[in-house]
Amino acid sequence: MSTATQENPAMPDIVVEARNLVQRYEVSRGLFADKGVVRALNGVSFKLAAGKTLAVVGESGCGKSTLGRLITMIEEPAEGELLIGGHPVKRNDRALRRKIQIVFQNPYGSLNPRQKIGSILEEPLKINTHDNADERRAKAIAMMVRVGLRPEHYERYPHMFSGGQRQRIAIARALMLNPGILVLDEPVSALDVSIQAQVLNILMDLQEEFGLAYLFISHDLSVVRHIADDIMVMYLGKPVEFGSSADVFAAPRHPYTAALLSATPIADPGRKKSRIRLTGELPSPIDLPSGCPFHPRCWRADERCKREVPALESAGKQAFACFHPMPEDGESGTTGGA
Ligand SMILES: Nc1ncnc2c1ncn2[C@@H]1O[C@H](COP(=O)(O)OP(=O)(O)OP(=O)(O)O)[C@@H](O)[C@H]1O
Ligand SMILES: [Mg+2]
Repeated sequence: MSTATQENPAMPDIVVEARNLVQRYEVSRGLFADKGVVRALNGVSFKLAAGKTLAVVGESGCGKSTLGRLITMIEEPAEGELLIGGHPVKRNDRALRRKIQIVFQNPYGSLNPRQKIGSILEEPLKINTHDNADERRAKAIAMMVRVGLRPEHYERYPHMFSGGQRQRIAIARALMLNPGILVLDEPVSALDVSIQAQVLNILMDLQEEFGLAYLFISHDLSVVRHIADDIMVMYLGKPVEFGSSADVFAAPRHPYTAALLSATPIADPGRKKSRIRLTGELPSPIDLPSGCPFHPRCWRADERCKREVPALESAGKQAFACFHPMPEDGESGTTGGA
């Protein structure tokens, strides 16, 4: 978020601004039990600039997809405010909705098996534009070529493609209406490792060509390392660390980030790394822990952490929510965790 537009270097072109987004879901806990409330998102704020990638990382259930649904306006937040291009989002704003598209993890489930690729790509144009058949076809084929598919694929069905190719089709479909923002919810997690890099490279090329802003959701830090400008690490519905990708990887300050990183296989021979093993289960988002939500699993926690909630505050290069942060020099400062 640090870079600015060329015209006005002082004013970064913020395309998404989230202000304290909160989301809850009511769930039944069993036949005779009271209803429970899942606190899926507990106050998330960030800014995302045009042409930039914000990665959202964290364990399963920390609220990443919920955040993705709020940003794409599939759901409305229980609390908080969302601004797109500086405008507060209102219900049913179809024009604004078109500016933000989403790509899901599973390229098998997200494409209609009965539809040919050409028709899949043209559907958004049919619904939202006055383009005639020839114009739609030309746009679809141009986008197919842009994501590395061939024009003859136009007449084929999704089952005739590999997982990587299907994900390219999903990306192409998301781009048909020239959105400014893509939410990518684990876009390469279902793909073979050898294919992941290809799709990430295409995403980076498309970002540069179209000036797209990406909200890139992943449980895997190693996937986002090269594509992310900024990283937001979430734990139980809240950001616990926020900073540039370089800073977070060089010296994670929140113990949770350090633990996630230590579990990530990254070839970095210059760096000594002790493995931190997290003990204990992820607490239920229905019964959130008191104080710092991470304290039950944290080897640095003390009495204060059980009582007080640390705020996300900038200190040094990045922001983190911790009373006992990891040292700034990037040394692990642990005895290997619990
Ligand atoms: N519609 C819903 N109704 C009830 N609970 C929900 C609903 N959607 C999400 N949740 C709960 O909210 C929490 C956050 O879910 P979410 O899917 O956002 O997590 P996530 O970080 O995307 O996880 P994953 O990595 O597994 O995709 C979880 O506890 C989940 O069970
Ligand atoms: Mg998810």
